[in-house]
Amino acid sequence: MTEAGSSPAGAALALQVDDLDVAYGHVEAVRGVSLEVGEGKIVALIGPNGAGKSTILAALCGLKKPDRGTVRLYGKEITGWPSHRLVAEGLSLVPEGRAILGRMTVRENLVLAGERKWEPKALAAAIDEQVRDFPILGERIGQLAGALSGGQQQMLAFARALLARPRVLLLDEPSMGLSPILVSQVFETIRQIHERGTTILLVEQNARLSLSVADDAYVLERGALVLEGKAAELADDPRIRAAYLGG
Ligand SMILES: Nc1ncnc2c1ncn2[C@@H]1O[C@H](COP(=O)(O)OP(=O)(O)OP(=O)(O)O)[C@@H](O)[C@H]1O
Ligand SMILES: [Mg+2]
Repeated sequence: MTEAGSSPAGAALALQVDDLDVAYGHVEAVRGVSLEVGEGKIVALIGPNGAGKSTILAALCGLKKPDRGTVRLYGKEITGWPSHRLVAEGLSLVPEGRAILGRMTVRENLVLAGERKWEPKALAAAIDEQVRDFPILGERIGQLAGALSGGQQQMLAFARALLARPRVLLLDEPSMGLSPILVSQVFETIRQIHERGTTILLVEQNARLSLSVADDAYVLERGALVLEGKAAELADDPRIRAAYLGG
Protein backbone atom coordinates (compact mmCIF):
# COMPACT_ATOMS: atom_id res chain seq x y z
CA MET A 1 0.00 0.00 0.00
CA THR A 2 1.15 3.54 -0.72
CA GLU A 3 0.18 6.98 0.38
CA ALA A 4 -1.84 8.84 -2.23
CA GLY A 5 0.27 10.34 -4.98
CA SER A 6 2.64 7.55 -5.89
CA SER A 7 1.85 5.49 -8.91
CA PRO A 8 1.33 1.73 -8.75
CA ALA A 9 3.24 -0.20 -11.39
CA GLY A 10 0.62 -1.39 -13.85
CA ALA A 11 -0.01 -3.11 -17.14
CA ALA A 12 -2.13 -1.39 -19.81
CA LEU A 13 -4.04 1.55 -18.40
CA ALA A 14 -7.69 2.00 -19.29
CA LEU A 15 -7.97 5.31 -17.48
CA GLN A 16 -5.23 7.62 -16.33
CA VAL A 17 -6.18 10.73 -14.40
CA ASP A 18 -3.44 13.21 -13.61
CA ASP A 19 -3.66 16.10 -11.15
CA LEU A 20 -7.36 16.78 -11.59
CA ASP A 21 -8.97 19.91 -10.11
CA VAL A 22 -12.72 20.44 -10.40
CA ALA A 23 -14.57 23.44 -8.93
CA TYR A 24 -18.17 24.62 -8.71
CA GLY A 25 -17.66 28.38 -8.74
CA HIS A 26 -15.48 29.04 -5.71
CA VAL A 27 -16.04 25.58 -4.24
CA GLU A 28 -12.99 23.45 -5.03
CA ALA A 29 -14.69 20.07 -4.96
CA VAL A 30 -11.72 18.03 -6.24
CA ARG A 31 -8.07 18.96 -5.82
CA GLY A 32 -4.99 17.34 -7.31
CA VAL A 33 -6.50 13.89 -7.84
CA SER A 34 -4.39 11.39 -9.78
CA LEU A 35 -5.58 7.86 -10.28
CA GLU A 36 -5.22 4.91 -12.60
CA VAL A 37 -7.56 2.16 -13.69
CA GLY A 38 -5.79 -0.81 -15.21
CA GLU A 39 -7.31 -2.60 -18.20
CA GLY A 40 -9.58 -5.41 -16.99
CA LYS A 41 -9.64 -4.24 -13.38
CA ILE A 42 -12.33 -3.19 -10.96
CA VAL A 43 -11.12 -0.10 -9.13
CA ALA A 44 -13.06 1.26 -6.16
CA LEU A 45 -13.23 4.91 -5.19
CA ILE A 46 -14.60 5.24 -1.68
CA GLY A 47 -15.13 8.15 0.68
CA PRO A 48 -17.75 9.92 2.75
CA ASN A 49 -20.65 12.09 1.57
CA GLY A 50 -19.52 15.19 -0.24
CA ALA A 51 -15.95 13.95 -0.69
CA GLY A 52 -16.09 14.63 -4.44
CA LYS A 53 -16.61 11.12 -5.82
CA SER A 54 -19.46 12.01 -8.19
CA THR A 55 -17.60 15.16 -9.23
CA ILE A 56 -14.63 13.05 -10.34
CA LEU A 57 -16.91 10.79 -12.39
CA ALA A 58 -18.65 13.84 -13.89
CA ALA A 59 -15.27 15.22 -14.96
CA LEU A 60 -14.21 11.86 -16.43
CA CYS A 61 -17.37 11.37 -18.50
CA GLY A 62 -17.74 14.88 -19.88
CA LEU A 63 -20.51 16.21 -17.64
CA LYS A 64 -18.26 18.73 -15.87
CA LYS A 65 -15.20 20.50 -17.24
CA PRO A 66 -12.12 20.05 -15.08
CA ASP A 67 -10.24 23.23 -14.15
CA ARG A 68 -6.90 21.51 -14.32
CA GLY A 69 -5.37 18.13 -15.02
CA THR A 70 -5.60 15.52 -17.75
CA VAL A 71 -7.65 12.41 -18.37
CA ARG A 72 -6.46 9.65 -20.71
CA LEU A 73 -8.50 6.74 -22.02
CA TYR A 74 -6.24 3.96 -23.30
CA GLY A 75 -3.48 6.54 -23.64
CA LYS A 76 -5.51 9.03 -25.67
CA GLU A 77 -6.11 12.38 -24.01
CA ILE A 78 -9.86 12.93 -23.61
CA THR A 79 -9.87 15.81 -21.11
CA GLY A 80 -13.05 17.87 -21.43
CA TRP A 81 -14.53 15.83 -24.28
CA PRO A 82 -18.34 15.90 -24.35
CA SER A 83 -20.20 12.80 -23.15
CA HIS A 84 -21.44 11.60 -26.55
CA ARG A 85 -17.89 11.52 -27.90
CA LEU A 86 -16.69 9.64 -24.84
CA VAL A 87 -19.49 7.07 -25.17
CA ALA A 88 -18.41 6.51 -28.77
CA GLU A 89 -14.82 6.17 -27.55
CA GLY A 90 -15.83 3.43 -25.07
CA LEU A 91 -16.50 5.21 -21.77
CA SER A 92 -19.99 5.15 -20.21
CA LEU A 93 -21.47 6.27 -16.89
CA VAL A 94 -24.20 4.70 -14.78
CA PRO A 95 -25.24 7.80 -12.83
CA GLU A 96 -25.97 8.21 -9.14
CA GLY A 97 -29.71 7.69 -8.56
CA ARG A 98 -30.00 5.65 -11.80
CA ALA A 99 -31.95 8.30 -13.75
CA ILE A 100 -34.54 5.78 -14.94
CA LEU A 101 -37.57 7.23 -16.75
CA GLY A 102 -40.26 5.70 -14.57
CA ARG A 103 -43.25 6.56 -16.80
CA MET A 104 -41.72 4.89 -19.80
CA THR A 105 -41.41 1.19 -20.40
CA VAL A 106 -38.22 -0.75 -19.98
CA ARG A 107 -37.92 -0.96 -23.78
CA GLU A 108 -38.51 2.78 -24.19
CA ASN A 109 -35.77 3.53 -21.68
CA LEU A 110 -33.35 1.41 -23.70
CA VAL A 111 -34.49 2.79 -27.05
CA LEU A 112 -34.12 6.39 -25.85
CA ALA A 113 -30.57 5.66 -24.73
CA GLY A 114 -29.56 4.32 -28.12
CA GLU A 115 -31.78 5.71 -30.86
CA ARG A 116 -29.58 8.69 -31.72
CA LYS A 117 -26.53 6.47 -32.05
CA TRP A 118 -27.79 3.54 -34.11
CA GLU A 119 -29.98 2.51 -36.98
CA PRO A 120 -33.09 0.67 -35.71
CA LYS A 121 -31.70 -2.75 -36.64
CA ALA A 122 -28.42 -2.23 -34.79
CA LEU A 123 -30.28 -0.80 -31.82
CA ALA A 124 -32.61 -3.82 -31.69
CA ALA A 125 -29.58 -6.11 -31.71
CA ALA A 126 -27.93 -4.13 -28.91
CA ILE A 127 -31.13 -4.30 -26.84
CA ASP A 128 -31.43 -8.06 -27.49
CA GLU A 129 -27.89 -8.47 -26.22
CA GLN A 130 -28.75 -6.69 -22.97
CA VAL A 131 -31.96 -8.69 -22.54
CA ARG A 132 -29.91 -11.87 -22.93
CA ASP A 133 -27.52 -10.70 -20.21
CA PHE A 134 -30.31 -9.38 -17.96
CA PRO A 135 -33.24 -11.80 -18.49
CA ILE A 136 -35.44 -9.99 -15.96
CA LEU A 137 -35.46 -6.97 -18.28
CA GLY A 138 -36.78 -9.19 -21.04
CA GLU A 139 -39.59 -10.41 -18.80
CA ARG A 140 -40.47 -6.80 -17.94
CA ILE A 141 -39.68 -5.22 -21.30
CA GLY A 142 -43.20 -3.79 -21.86
CA GLN A 143 -43.79 -2.68 -18.28
CA LEU A 144 -43.28 0.79 -16.88
CA ALA A 145 -39.76 1.18 -15.56
CA GLY A 146 -41.20 2.87 -12.46
CA ALA A 147 -42.90 -0.41 -11.54
CA LEU A 148 -39.60 -2.29 -11.35
CA SER A 149 -38.00 -2.97 -7.98
CA GLY A 150 -34.97 -0.87 -7.04
CA GLY A 151 -32.66 -3.74 -7.93
CA GLN A 152 -34.32 -4.21 -11.33
CA GLN A 153 -34.08 -0.48 -11.99
CA GLN A 154 -30.38 -0.72 -11.31
CA MET A 155 -30.16 -3.57 -13.86
CA LEU A 156 -31.90 -1.30 -16.35
CA ALA A 157 -29.44 1.48 -15.57
CA PHE A 158 -26.56 -0.96 -16.17
CA ALA A 159 -28.12 -2.22 -19.42
CA ARG A 160 -28.67 1.30 -20.68
CA ALA A 161 -25.01 2.17 -20.20
CA LEU A 162 -23.86 -1.18 -21.61
CA LEU A 163 -25.86 -0.71 -24.84
CA ALA A 164 -22.92 1.23 -26.24
CA ARG A 165 -20.61 -1.71 -25.38
CA PRO A 166 -18.21 0.41 -23.33
CA ARG A 167 -14.69 -0.76 -22.59
CA VAL A 168 -14.77 1.22 -19.36
CA LEU A 169 -17.83 1.65 -17.16
CA LEU A 170 -18.11 4.28 -14.43
CA LEU A 171 -20.57 3.26 -11.70
CA ASP A 172 -21.84 5.88 -9.24
CA GLU A 173 -23.31 4.37 -6.05
CA PRO A 174 -25.09 1.43 -7.70
CA SER A 175 -26.15 0.01 -4.32
CA MET A 176 -27.67 3.24 -3.04
CA GLY A 177 -31.10 2.87 -1.41
CA LEU A 178 -31.32 -0.90 -1.86
CA SER A 179 -32.10 -3.54 0.76
CA PRO A 180 -29.19 -5.78 1.82
CA ILE A 181 -30.30 -8.67 -0.42
CA LEU A 182 -30.58 -6.41 -3.45
CA VAL A 183 -27.23 -4.85 -2.62
CA SER A 184 -25.60 -8.30 -2.86
CA GLN A 185 -27.41 -8.92 -6.15
CA VAL A 186 -26.13 -5.64 -7.55
CA PHE A 187 -22.57 -6.53 -6.56
CA GLU A 188 -23.01 -9.96 -8.16
CA THR A 189 -24.11 -8.19 -11.34
CA ILE A 190 -21.05 -5.94 -11.18
CA ARG A 191 -18.88 -9.08 -11.01
CA GLN A 192 -20.69 -10.50 -14.06
CA ILE A 193 -20.32 -7.31 -16.10
CA HIS A 194 -16.64 -7.37 -15.25
CA GLU A 195 -16.30 -11.03 -16.23
CA ARG A 196 -17.82 -10.25 -19.61
CA GLY A 197 -14.81 -8.02 -20.19
CA THR A 198 -15.61 -4.52 -18.95
CA THR A 199 -13.17 -2.46 -16.91
CA ILE A 200 -14.93 -0.74 -14.00
CA LEU A 201 -14.40 2.33 -11.85
CA LEU A 202 -16.77 1.86 -8.94
CA VAL A 203 -17.82 4.72 -6.66
CA GLU A 204 -19.48 3.49 -3.50
CA GLN A 205 -20.24 4.36 0.07
CA ASN A 206 -20.51 0.65 0.81
CA ALA A 207 -16.77 0.34 1.44
CA ARG A 208 -16.84 -3.26 2.63
CA LEU A 209 -18.50 -4.68 -0.47
CA SER A 210 -16.70 -2.48 -2.93
CA LEU A 211 -13.30 -3.40 -1.48
CA SER A 212 -14.36 -7.06 -1.69
CA VAL A 213 -14.96 -6.90 -5.48
CA ALA A 214 -12.20 -4.44 -6.39
CA ASP A 215 -8.59 -5.08 -7.37
CA ASP A 216 -7.37 -1.62 -6.41
CA ALA A 217 -8.91 1.18 -4.41
CA TYR A 218 -8.61 4.87 -3.65
CA VAL A 219 -9.91 6.74 -0.63
CA LEU A 220 -11.10 10.31 -1.19
CA GLU A 221 -11.75 12.78 1.62
CA ARG A 222 -12.71 16.44 1.16
CA GLY A 223 -11.71 16.46 -2.48
CA ALA A 224 -8.29 14.87 -2.14
CA LEU A 225 -6.99 11.29 -2.16
CA VAL A 226 -5.72 10.19 1.22
CA LEU A 227 -4.92 6.53 0.62
CA GLU A 228 -4.60 4.11 -2.28
CA GLY A 229 -3.52 0.55 -2.83
CA LYS A 230 -4.65 -3.01 -3.36
CA ALA A 231 -8.27 -3.30 -2.26
CA ALA A 232 -7.53 -6.34 -0.08
CA GLU A 233 -4.77 -4.47 1.74
CA LEU A 234 -6.92 -1.40 2.26
CA ALA A 235 -9.66 -3.60 3.70
CA ASP A 236 -7.15 -4.68 6.37
CA ASP A 237 -5.80 -1.19 7.04
CA PRO A 238 -6.67 0.00 10.58
CA ARG A 239 -7.42 3.53 9.30
CA ILE A 240 -9.92 2.16 6.78
CA ARG A 241 -11.40 -0.27 9.26
CA ALA A 242 -11.95 2.50 11.80
CA ALA A 243 -13.36 5.07 9.37
CA TYR A 244 -15.25 2.97 6.83
CA LEU A 245 -15.74 -0.60 8.00
CA GLY A 246 -17.14 -0.12 11.45
CA GLY A 247 -13.87 -0.81 13.35
N1 LIG B 1 -23.72 21.24 -8.79
C1 LIG B 1 -23.01 21.61 -7.72
N2 LIG B 1 -22.88 22.91 -7.37
C2 LIG B 1 -22.16 23.31 -6.30
N3 LIG B 1 -21.52 22.45 -5.48
C3 LIG B 1 -21.62 21.15 -5.76
C4 LIG B 1 -22.37 20.65 -6.88
N4 LIG B 1 -22.28 19.31 -6.90
C5 LIG B 1 -21.51 18.97 -5.84
N5 LIG B 1 -21.12 20.07 -5.16
C6 LIG B 1 -20.24 20.10 -3.97
O1 LIG B 1 -19.03 19.47 -4.30
C7 LIG B 1 -18.58 18.63 -3.24
C8 LIG B 1 -18.43 17.19 -3.76
O2 LIG B 1 -19.73 16.68 -4.08
P1 LIG B 1 -19.92 15.27 -4.77
O3 LIG B 1 -21.35 15.15 -5.11
O4 LIG B 1 -18.92 15.09 -5.83
O5 LIG B 1 -19.54 14.31 -3.55
P2 LIG B 1 -19.77 12.73 -3.41
O6 LIG B 1 -18.49 12.19 -2.85
O7 LIG B 1 -20.26 12.15 -4.67
O8 LIG B 1 -20.88 12.67 -2.27
P3 LIG B 1 -22.09 11.61 -2.07
O9 LIG B 1 -21.48 10.45 -1.34
O10 LIG B 1 -23.03 12.36 -1.20
O11 LIG B 1 -22.65 11.24 -3.40
C9 LIG B 1 -19.59 18.79 -2.13
O12 LIG B 1 -19.11 19.78 -1.24
C10 LIG B 1 -20.83 19.26 -2.83
O13 LIG B 1 -21.61 20.04 -1.99
MG1 LIG C 1 -21.97 11.17 -5.18
